[in-house]
Amino acid sequence: MVDLYGRSYLKDTDLNAEEYGFLLDLAAALRQEKRAGAGRPLLAGKNVALLFAKTSTRTRSAFEVATSDLGGHPTYLGPGETQFGVKESTADTARVLGRMFDGIEFRGSAHADAETLAARAGVPVWNGLTDQWHPTQSLSDLLTMRDHSDRPLDEVSVCFLGDASNNTCASLLTAGALMGMDVRVAAPLGRRPTAAVWQAAGVLAAASGAHLTLTDDAHAAVDGADFLYTDVWLSMGEDPALWDERIDLLLPFQVNAKLMAETGRPDVKFMHCLPAFHDTGTEIGRAIHERRGLEALEVTDEVFESDASIVFDQAENRLHTIKALMAATLSRSGH
Ligand code: CP
Ligand code: NVA
Repeated sequence: MVDLYGRSYLKDTDLNAEEYGFLLDLAAALRQEKRAGAGRPLLAGKNVALLFAKTSTRTRSAFEVATSDLGGHPTYLGPGETQFGVKESTADTARVLGRMFDGIEFRGSAHADAETLAARAGVPVWNGLTDQWHPTQSLSDLLTMRDHSDRPLDEVSVCFLGDASNNTCASLLTAGALMGMDVRVAAPLGRRPTAAVWQAAGVLAAASGAHLTLTDDAHAAVDGADFLYTDVWLSMGEDPALWDERIDLLLPFQVNAKLMAETGRPDVKFMHCLPAFHDTGTEIGRAIHERRGLEALEVTDEVFESDASIVFDQAENRLHTIKALMAATLSRSGH
């Protein structure tokens, strides 16, 4: 019997496989209800704080719309808008927000801040991204892979390419390991998952039967893969002066039409947590194009805009999975 009431969710390994599967099922059910025009006021009378120390489009929107859909009230506390971190410690912020809100979403840099909030607030805290983990992203990613596969997750393979030392890869890798998937990671030395993340994934894989691969050979890694996944090469909070060395290091891991074909799978799908540098439609994309002559970075526009790309399904599923997470942790009838 799954009972997530009152629980925080800071990293993927906070859930066991049964709990993780439960949230995916609940998200699919809530999605169906929303599409049918029905809803459950599971958060009626509840207030949710959205504490963002970094910018966001998807995560903020998903938490706001999900809270409203469930009959609750979201309060957005954006970067630089509160005393957090500058004039007030994380522990003090936690105790203040915990007196007023029923749940707290947190996006920031140090994962220790998410842990302090969860330890001191007295209400559930959900990690909306730290430098180390992005666990609400992986919930959406696994639901999206389930949606786009006719096989169960433990018969599905996904290959993450690029900056594998980042939050998105850590969460995809550990969530995939938890759920028994075939997870391949293709990255150069220096941008691999941390030893702690790789070890945690290995422990989960031993229990679930997951198959994990770590290589610097992108071509071998994608062989037979159902899904190719990439993320930005420079994450929020990293020094923009690192762009050029990161591009030089990661260009061999760009997802392009050739790499998609090398999977040998005509039905291979492309995934990205977004935002993505696939064209020159952004300030950063244009500046890099002027400096380096590159039209795209981690994924070509051809792949991003192709029928194989399921990135906007992934983005939509942020809403349904975050809604399931809040319903299960804030409402006893969310189960
Ligand atoms: N994928 C994701 O977390 O997007 P945002 O940064 O827009 O929230
Ligand atoms: N790795 C990226 C994910 C953005 C959703 C970052 O941290 O900026």
